[in-house]
Amino acid sequence: MNKNIAVIRGDGIGPEIVAQALKVLDRVAACYGHSFRYIDVDMGGCALDKYGDPLPEHELEKCKNADSVLLGAVGGNQWNDVPADKRPEKGLLRLRAGMGVYSNNRPAKIWRQLADASPLKSEIVANGIDFLIVRELTGGIYFGTHKTENGTATDILQYSEAEIERIGRIGFETARKRNRRLCSVEKSNVLDSSRLWKAVMHRLSNEYPDVELTDMLVDNCAMQIVKNPAQFDVIVTENMFGDILSDEASMITGSIGMIPSSSLGAGTCGLYEPIHGSAPDIAGTDKANPIGTILSAAMMLRYSFDLNAEADAIERAVSAFLDNNYRTADIMRSGMTEVGCAQCGDLIAEYIGKG
Ligand code: IPM
Ligand code: MG
Repeated sequence: MNKNIAVIRGDGIGPEIVAQALKVLDRVAACYGHSFRYIDVDMGGCALDKYGDPLPEHELEKCKNADSVLLGAVGGNQWNDVPADKRPEKGLLRLRAGMGVYSNNRPAKIWRQLADASPLKSEIVANGIDFLIVRELTGGIYFGTHKTENGTATDILQYSEAEIERIGRIGFETARKRNRRLCSVEKSNVLDSSRLWKAVMHRLSNEYPDVELTDMLVDNCAMQIVKNPAQFDVIVTENMFGDILSDEASMITGSIGMIPSSSLGAGTCGLYEPIHGSAPDIAGTDKANPIGTILSAAMMLRYSFDLNAEADAIERAVSAFLDNNYRTADIMRSGMTEVGCAQCGDLIAEYIGKG
């Protein structure tokens, strides 16, 4: 299979972690007879420095024309004071909106080898942590009007029924492929947008009688994720709630560095990125955990290219890395062997085709 992959290395640890994912993809290509062509795209702070724009139109076009997009991370302290519409993060938001990838899939699954890395009590972890957050990605407060005038700041949170319905359907369809339990998370005791959200979810549930729909207020959900994570199968929620809950969910699995994500819209061209940020404090020190990015590449193979055996091989290679007691700094424990970012990529690439 020949595929063109737009590659956004980004800022901070972005280039280091993306390099490891490409190593792994190259190994997959060699073992399974595929050809992946990488198209470098500038986005984020590096694009701002180069072009004065965190995502110039010509770079967005490269992403839209590719078969899929792999992204490291963007942002850094040196761009903290640039105007809001020039911030590196704005490039990312424009990329998501420009590609139309409204559905962001963030798994929270604990690797059995990392059970002791979870900050939760072992009896809670023993019940299992394996759920998925479906986060609406191109609407809500992230994309409403933002303004600051006369000492007052305003951010508008707006959702149309159509926007809620299309992400709701993804939630139901995803639950159907898993354990058929969907939890819709909102703040309907306060927000109109959440009341509409809840009403649309219940209307849709008539079409998915095989999926059990429950509602949960977002503050309660934040509590339930640490109290009893085993209760969740699929959570569907709006953009900002999903942003916050997915950081929380990642931490109970041991490290945010392990979590990949996929973002899809109408077609098969997706955006694949780890859920963590650019970690400027450890950039260039070879300390970053590239596994979230490597697993994002696996998701790309699975969801955009339908290469399931190849995606399985990457996930098995990550498991082999952990089974052999290798750990990056974020998940390091006594008795384990600490490896840097580059060696982590080398080892995982080596395990592909071996198991
Ligand atoms: C994420 C990040 C982004 C978001 C930032 C960098 C804009 O936190 O992907 O979760 O808030 O969506
Ligand atoms: Mg986030």
